[in-house]
Amino acid sequence: MSRRKTVLDIQAMKGRGEKICALTCYDYPTARIIDTCGVDLILVGDSAGVVFSGFDNTLPVTVEDMLYHTRAVVRAKPDALVVADLPFLSYQVDMREARLNSGRLVKDGGAEAVKLEGGKNVADIIRGIVDMDVPVMGHIGLTPQSIHRMGGYKVQGKKDEQGEKLLEDAVAVQAAGAFSIVLEGIPLKLARKITAELSIPTIGIGAGPWCDGQILVLHDILGICDKYSPKFVKKYADAKTLISSAVSRYSQEVKSGEFPDEEHSFL
Ligand code: KIV
Repeated sequence: MSRRKTVLDIQAMKGRGEKICALTCYDYPTARIIDTCGVDLILVGDSAGVVFSGFDNTLPVTVEDMLYHTRAVVRAKPDALVVADLPFLSYQVDMREARLNSGRLVKDGGAEAVKLEGGKNVADIIRGIVDMDVPVMGHIGLTPQSIHRMGGYKVQGKKDEQGEKLLEDAVAVQAAGAFSIVLEGIPLKLARKITAELSIPTIGIGAGPWCDGQILVLHDILGICDKYSPKFVKKYADAKTLISSAVSRYSQEVKSGEFPDEEHSFL
């Protein structure tokens, strides 16, 4: 029998050498489906701004947006641990805002943990949120909220000194009390080194096979959103073709008068 996963369950998986499967989700019906498929952790990511709302990047996403998506996912009562992203400008300005917004995602949204981007530069903020008993997931490497500093979505830590800095960032995030950390868009050997160095689980996205777990954006694996197609994404379905063929058939049947027939009408 399944039961709701906690941050302790996610951490224990690293100890047992059991891979952690994480996936993004932003709505109720999808959360119900993916929770029956072996997903350990659902991230209500600010990637919703891009793949759900159609923005060019994640920067416009607000705390209200994240609350809306988190509540929808939580209503599905998933067994997977629900982590909500802190969007840009909800934790960088000062500790009070960081703690207030994290608390809102837990209290009003129903999330069990929050995620934020950054390394040493956000260590104090992580400590402040963890101190009020809200578990925090870190996120380093290709951090989408830093798109303008990075000059686009580019692999990070390719040069030795950049790799060393990312390792220091990971250690700082762990020391600040994070329960796990996302490693995004970094060379696989660097991810292996960071994973070996840390006692908390690393969840990779474009970071190779040696992380403790993996995460991808749901819309990418389903082939719904073809706006970007990074090298690290594996498409497990062609939902775009499935949806367009169903909607085209519906439209043709409405226009031809074939739908609705007697079976789909009240006599
Ligand atoms: O917002 C998001 O979906 C993320 C994951 C891709 C890690 O941060």
